[in-house]
Amino acid sequence: MEKIILTGDRPTGKLHLGHYVGSLKRRVELQESGEFDKIFVMIADAQALTDNADNPEKVRQNIIEVALDYLSVGLDPAKTTIFIQSQVPELCELTTYYMNLVSVARVQRNPTVKTEIKMRNFEQSIPLGFFCYPVSQAADITAFKATTVPVGEDQAPMIELTREIVQRFNHIYGPTLVEPQIVLPSNAACMRLPGTDGKAKMSKSLGNCIYLSDTPKEVAKKVKSMYTDPLHLNIDDPGHLEGNCPFIYLDAFATDEQVNRFNPDFASLQDLKDRYVKGGVGDGTVKKILINVLEEELVPIRERRAHYEANIPEVYEILKKGSEEARRVAGQTLADVRKAMKIDYFSDAELIEEQANRFVKK
Ligand code: TRP
Repeated sequence: MEKIILTGDRPTGKLHLGHYVGSLKRRVELQESGEFDKIFVMIADAQALTDNADNPEKVRQNIIEVALDYLSVGLDPAKTTIFIQSQVPELCELTTYYMNLVSVARVQRNPTVKTEIKMRNFEQSIPLGFFCYPVSQAADITAFKATTVPVGEDQAPMIELTREIVQRFNHIYGPTLVEPQIVLPSNAACMRLPGTDGKAKMSKSLGNCIYLSDTPKEVAKKVKSMYTDPLHLNIDDPGHLEGNCPFIYLDAFATDEQVNRFNPDFASLQDLKDRYVKGGVGDGTVKKILINVLEEELVPIRERRAHYEANIPEVYEILKKGSEEARRVAGQTLADVRKAMKIDYFSDAELIEEQANRFVKK
């Protein structure tokens, strides 16, 4: 069986370091692994509209932001098909059929949807399109016969639902769709990178993000203002690692070699941690190492971004070509689905003959 990746993001803002360690970096590694026959990365504008129906301009503006973020982290249009969800109408048709296979109660139990409903204060006026987005996400994944979906853990309920839909579909209509596997980030720090305030996950509305497009100055400023350990007042005080942002970021980004290279006083990340806990290492020292580590990651990203920012029409062309290819592939799956569901009336010569015979006067 072919190995196929599908994943994507809602274009509601620029992507940040949480997206990067939580998913983008992994996608590029998977792209470079050569293990996959096809890779699709989707800008989920239709899904973004499910809770931004009154703000189409925001979605439109963020298409290009997300595309630039993708290209700048190293997604390569020669290896990865980057496309825009709304330009593949086949996905809507699949969603319609899948809605018959999912109960309202099943979607109501989805923990991610539950949290989002609370966060957005929808209360009794949940848009129906928003409520159904997990089903449309199953269409996104299955349209490409994806075997592998690299996402953050908040997306796990969507992949689970997709698997259920695939099982139900194949059970009723015969083997047609492929069950996908989720691929999660490699460690806990990557899974849930906190914002610079140390509180929740990075989120635009909390103003606690470091963006992939931030300048070196912005990055340094944000790291210097990071939440650390409120009990570590003097350098010689013992420090605590739990909830200490710079250390969580180092866990997500740094290698021992980097820690040692950027500050030869420390042999490894563990050495830095041990001596911080004992007392005698200042927060500034830790933050300085972190700034260097982040910059090493961000410099090539900024270089690629500068190239594409100077060639915006080329970026739209990449998205257009990608969307055409995505449509072609989704169209093939849709043909399989229509056939399995017995709604392929005009491409089934046998059906016409069978019906003709049925009505022949004996
Ligand atoms: N729900 C994802 C997000 O919030 C975006 C998305 C839409 C997606 N369809 C998908 C992710 C299919 C993986 C697979 O960013």
